[in-house]
Amino acid sequence: MLRSEEVFAHGGTRLGRLVILRRRWLLWRHAFVLSLSLLAACRIRAGECTANGTQFDRFVVVILENADFEVAMADDYLASLAARPDARLLSDYHGLAHPSQPNYIGQIGGDTFGITDDDPHEIDATNLVDLLDGANITWKAYMEDYPGDCFNGSNAGGLPLFNGALSLYVRQHNPFVSFSNILGSASRCQKIVPGNELDSDISSKSVPQFVYFVPNQIHNGHTTGFGFNVFQATDWLQGWLDPKLNDSAFNNDRTVILVTFDESGVSGSGNHVYAALVGGLLGSPSNCSAKGDPLTCADGSYYTHYSVPKTIEDNWKLGSLGRNDQNASAFKLP
Ligand SMILES: *[C@@H]1O[C@H](CO)[C@@H](O)[C@H](O)[C@H]1NC(C)=O
Ligand SMILES: *[C@@H]1O[C@H](CO)[C@@H](O)[C@H](O)[C@H]1NC(C)=O
Ligand SMILES: *[C@@H]1O[C@H](CO)[C@@H](O)[C@H](O)[C@H]1NC(C)=O
Ligand SMILES: *[C@@H]1O[C@H](CO)[C@@H](O)[C@H](O)[C@H]1NC(C)=O
Ligand SMILES: *[C@@H]1O[C@H](CO)[C@@H](O)[C@H](O)[C@H]1NC(C)=O
Ligand SMILES: *[C@@H]1O[C@H](CO)[C@@H](O)[C@H](O)[C@H]1NC(C)=O
Repeated sequence: MLRSEEVFAHGGTRLGRLVILRRRWLLWRHAFVLSLSLLAACRIRAGECTANGTQFDRFVVVILENADFEVAMADDYLASLAARPDARLLSDYHGLAHPSQPNYIGQIGGDTFGITDDDPHEIDATNLVDLLDGANITWKAYMEDYPGDCFNGSNAGGLPLFNGALSLYVRQHNPFVSFSNILGSASRCQKIVPGNELDSDISSKSVPQFVYFVPNQIHNGHTTGFGFNVFQATDWLQGWLDPKLNDSAFNNDRTVILVTFDESGVSGSGNHVYAALVGGLLGSPSNCSAKGDPLTCADGSYYTHYSVPKTIEDNWKLGSLGRNDQNASAFKLP
């Protein structure tokens, strides 16, 4: 719209009328182009411009801490989880290294980048988020007790004692903040959110396609002593996971959920850890007649944390990071 003083200034002359006509034309053209681009833009949240997966439309990772395969299998809930009709035990699944951090880094980076400690690192390299964003696959990293707002400190929450040993959130279990191109991007690091945001995303039916969930230091079984241990972690897991498995806003017949541990306990050889796939996609997974016995019906293929990016890359045809993800084995599905 032209303001009246402009009309007044130009109104009397032929040149003035031309100026007004030209301005009107530019305004109309601008509005037209804008409305075309609005029509063309697909709505990522509505899934219109999101590639549908070859086998699944959602992959969820939930990671507990520090237990040998045998210790985890001795836990009633973890054994029963793997024995569900819509689940499959991966009986030869391995962590990558000790201590914790490189295992998490490897799951989204396809490499440990030589990291052998739990200290803060800034990794200037591509990662799974680049591949997901490149294909408009929605994702969020849910970290229990994470303060949000791109927080990159070492720990938060819990008791400020023993140099962070009793914190609830610790940075070494959050691989996302260690990649410069995630932490350094406002839109990306806003997708690292406090864990309880998953409940509101379920309520609003906006759970992303890739969900990376890290329980806090008590829920993940890390902080032992003081009455906390892996069995208490699985009490938490049962209360957290079972209702979600029944909720179609989280789990449907195109959903796969991986429950695993970052690394074995100190004593574990070969870094052999528990891993189970569960979810609607596995609804009628196999012909196993002994479904009550997870070991009989297990997938005994050799897998590692690098199988996580590999499975996601294959499903959405994302290519690869060109690291260990490239030649890892994808999980057999369904
Ligand atoms: C993905 O699948 C949904 C549901 O079947 C469909 O509405 C949507 O158009 C598909 N998206 C693409 C990009 O094919
Ligand atoms: C991702 O979404 C944008 C619109 O937001 C669209 O222009 C682009 O083509 C999409 N990319 C792919 C790979 O579908
Ligand atoms: C956290 O971010 C600040 C600002 O970007 C940076 O100076 C600092 O080195 C980062 N700290 C860690 C531990 O990454
Ligand atoms: C989930 O659904 C099953 C089958 O309907 C039911 O037996 C079970 O109690 C439900 N679990 C929860 C936690 O709601
Ligand atoms: C299912 O079990 C039957 C009977 O044991 C067997 O003949 C068949 O080959 C199995 N099918 C698959 C796909 O494993
Ligand atoms: C896997 O691929 C990486 C990167 O291409 C390569 O360096 C490594 O040697 C390969 N490992 C095996 C076991 O083939």
